[in-house]
Amino acid sequence: MINLKNLRMKYYDNGTEIEALKLKKISIEDGKHVAFIGSSGCGKTTLFNLISGMITPTEGTVEVNDVDLTTLTEVERDLFRANHIGYIFQDFNLFPDFTALQNVLLPMSFSKRYSKKEMNELAKDILKKVGMGEKINQKVKTLSGGEKQRVAIARSIVNKPDVILADEPTGNLDYKNGAKIMELIKEIAKEEKATLIVITHNNSQLDMFDEVINIEELNEVIK
Ligand SMILES: Nc1ncnc2c1ncn2[C@@H]1O[C@H](COP(=O)(O)OP(=O)(O)OP(=O)(O)O)[C@@H](O)[C@H]1O
Ligand SMILES: [Mg+2]
Repeated sequence: MINLKNLRMKYYDNGTEIEALKLKKISIEDGKHVAFIGSSGCGKTTLFNLISGMITPTEGTVEVNDVDLTTLTEVERDLFRANHIGYIFQDFNLFPDFTALQNVLLPMSFSKRYSKKEMNELAKDILKKVGMGEKINQKVKTLSGGEKQRVAIARSIVNKPDVILADEPTGNLDYKNGAKIMELIKEIAKEEKATLIVITHNNSQLDMFDEVINIEELNEVIK
């Protein structure tokens, strides 16, 4: 279960206060597939950063699996993220000079769950699953956009997260490849029984979700 309550997020930029988010409540049940929508700048990525514990709110609580992330230290939040959250970033966040395999191995080494041998086998299996089995040793900077996206998906699911956050995963892809990637993410989330939240601007994908949440309507900050 994800429970966000009385959230306020203020950023401070050169002494100026920017209020980005003011939200009463969002609840998402385990295993649901949910879409976050709303226009650019309404706070969608900020919410993902809060749910993944990358940042903490100025006010309010962020509960994931009954743990209030705002009560944890940064180190505890990093470990929580490594073990429970799979984050597919808006701009991939892959290491371009590392190979596909090295990129997928990285979060596994943080979670400290597996031996080296197990990590290698699992990472290879998952890269195969996303259709990148032939390119595991290719440097990420030499991959196409869709291929990078597949590596980013593989990396996000390798630790078997309870929650998968995908920030516009098909934003840079053509219609056909976008639809394929969305299907792949949904299929993996279903197999792993993970909660899935996808930020999307693509209205044609919305009927694939159990619920669509318009962040712009919920956010009380007037821009
Ligand atoms: N680190 C930061 N410092 C200052 N302001 C920020 C910071 N991060 C985000 N903001 C501001 O917070 C608001 C919400 O940003 P956010 O990235 O969450 O929007 P978004 O809904 O994901 O937009 P998009 O659809 O364009 O990705 C914006 O006005 C943005 O400028
Ligand atoms: Mg965003």
